[in-house]
Amino acid sequence: MTKNVLVTGCAGFIGYNLSKKLIHQEYSVTGIDSLNTAYDKKFKELRLKDLENEKNFQFVNNNLSDEDSLNELNNFDIVYHMGARAGVRQSFKDPLSYIKDNTIATTNVANFCKDNNIQKMILASTSSIYGNSGDKEMVEDLDEKINPPSIYASTKLSGETLAKTILSSHDTNLIITRFFTVYGPYGRPDMSILRFIHWIMENKEVIIFGDGEQRRSFTYVDDVVELLLKVQNCDNSETFNVGNNKTSSLNEVIKIIEKFSNKEALVNNQPRAFRDPDVVLPSLSKSKQILDWEPSTNIEEGIKSTIEWYSSFQDKIKDYTYIE
Ligand SMILES: NC(=O)c1ccc[n+]([C@@H]2O[C@H](COP(=O)([O-])OP(=O)(O)OC[C@H]3O[C@@H](n4cnc5c(N)ncnc54)[C@H](O)[C@@H]3O)[C@@H](O)[C@H]2O)c1
Repeated sequence: MTKNVLVTGCAGFIGYNLSKKLIHQEYSVTGIDSLNTAYDKKFKELRLKDLENEKNFQFVNNNLSDEDSLNELNNFDIVYHMGARAGVRQSFKDPLSYIKDNTIATTNVANFCKDNNIQKMILASTSSIYGNSGDKEMVEDLDEKINPPSIYASTKLSGETLAKTILSSHDTNLIITRFFTVYGPYGRPDMSILRFIHWIMENKEVIIFGDGEQRRSFTYVDDVVELLLKVQNCDNSETFNVGNNKTSSLNEVIKIIEKFSNKEALVNNQPRAFRDPDVVLPSLSKSKQILDWEPSTNIEEGIKSTIEWYSSFQDKIKDYTYIE
């Protein structure tokens, strides 16, 4: 039987890639997005146009921070709540928008799941809540020790906590997926890998905040989507890290982009961003043990396909705005 799925943030990077996969697996997908201007809206319109060519997709343009934004919708088996205002640096400038789009919107989505007896709410969260990990792998179940280092991380963690409280003692399973720096085709222009690809391919200056030695668990979007499908088999409320088992530094990323684009980066190092962690390292044992999931795309393969995607849209997207 066809499953009916609601994907929030469907015009966003991960929501788009997830919706596309679900549609191709014969799910019926309703996507909701406010198409906000946290970054150039043209990226969202590009993704949405692609989804709207699909038969099993319908779009609702609503803002989930409005209490009645989901009133007209019902009959879903699963809700994937991918919608959020992402971005660490921007969050210090505009806390209220983050509270609305993350804390309040997540509360509304969790209430919707409770009131409609939805089987599963799958909530996108973030490795940003952990802050700097040093050489210790971050495990999922030490929540009481978490001290979020940014407004973005605080609003995401409060979304997790509120959803847990709202759905406890109800039939909806809450599955929280904490993503570690996701990249890939249709990516975000405010995140390092797509910005670096754009700047290098267009012979522009490559701005790096700090010396570029900070390391991240860069995770390819197809691996993330694979896990998001696998969590449907999870019968309990759980929290999972979704990352890569090998970290890379920004300087290593630049070298890989240079290799596959055949171009040289004109690097301009700027002062390090506020509270930017040195390294964020996931423990992936739980996702391996419970879901039999492991990331399968290494950073070289992932960057190569992201460059191929960029090249196929280059004429159009080279003039879009990329946030420093
Ligand atoms: N991309 C990453 O590396 C990463 C890492 C950790 C966590 N996450 C989380 O994954 C999820 C998806 O992130 P993304 O990278 O696709 O971001 P994105 O900004 O590309 O997508 C989010 C989408 O949600 C929409 N949205 C925001 N507030 C809304 C609201 N109130 N109502 C309706 N729609 C709203 C935006 O317009 C956007 O299209 C987010 O929850 C984010 O916090 C992403």
